[in-house]
Amino acid sequence: MNSKTTISTLDRMKAEGRKIAVLTAYDAGFARLAEAAGVDVVLVGDSLGMVVQGQESTLPVTVEDMVYHTAMVKRGCSRPLIVADMPFMSHGTPRQALDNAGRLMKEGGAHMVKLEGGHAQVETVKHLTDRAVPVCAHLGLLPQSIHQLGGYKVQGRDSRSAERILSDAHELQDAGAQMLVLECVPELLAREISLALDIPVIGIGAGRGCDGQVLVLHDMLGITPGKVPSFSRNFMAEADSIEGAIRAYVEAVHDERFPAEEHCFR
Ligand code: KIV
Repeated sequence: MNSKTTISTLDRMKAEGRKIAVLTAYDAGFARLAEAAGVDVVLVGDSLGMVVQGQESTLPVTVEDMVYHTAMVKRGCSRPLIVADMPFMSHGTPRQALDNAGRLMKEGGAHMVKLEGGHAQVETVKHLTDRAVPVCAHLGLLPQSIHQLGGYKVQGRDSRSAERILSDAHELQDAGAQMLVLECVPELLAREISLALDIPVIGIGAGRGCDGQVLVLHDMLGITPGKVPSFSRNFMAEADSIEGAIRAYVEAVHDERFPAEEHCFR
């Protein structure tokens, strides 16, 4: 597919049951490779704090960092939809969120911003979407809340937290969110949410029932130092080039060969 990916493309893919391949990228070179390999959506994730900057978490990432990396990604690709993360403390109030989302779109060239959080973010999501800022919500494991959560743990395993994630997902969609990332939740819950929502649901460690998948570039290339999450897969292990590895990932998502059983949580 050579035409530009828009939110309408993604809605159509969901309606037709075609899976969406999302990958993080943080600079022009990798954005170019992602585009050449057929990635549908490039996420400029605040995971760059860990995989590019060498920080211990995503918390130190600034709006300035996100604008800088988003602008590089924008220069590297023209077909994929570009989603930029709103970093920690950049969306504490609707007004602050609008100012920072505006920078990510005007200076960085993002087509959509992503922000972590449930019920507490509903007013902010409405404020942004009422003002022409497309929003991707993010539920489940929220890396920006890591100190509150007490570690990178699967979320929504008990019925109370599962119900909260499901009701937050509905609220965020009703507030105008046009996409949702679900991170590290049981496969059954993610499937239920994907079926219940009209908007595309993109999973990471959320099993096979989502409308698409996202991985962190460095994890799927096998260059993340230390422990790699169990839901990820090293696509470089069987590829002879980086573009080949990304293409194998895209094809595995489109053909529903990734994720497999071993990448899912119960
Ligand atoms: O920052 C990021 O890369 C993300 C993905 C893990 C979804 O938010």
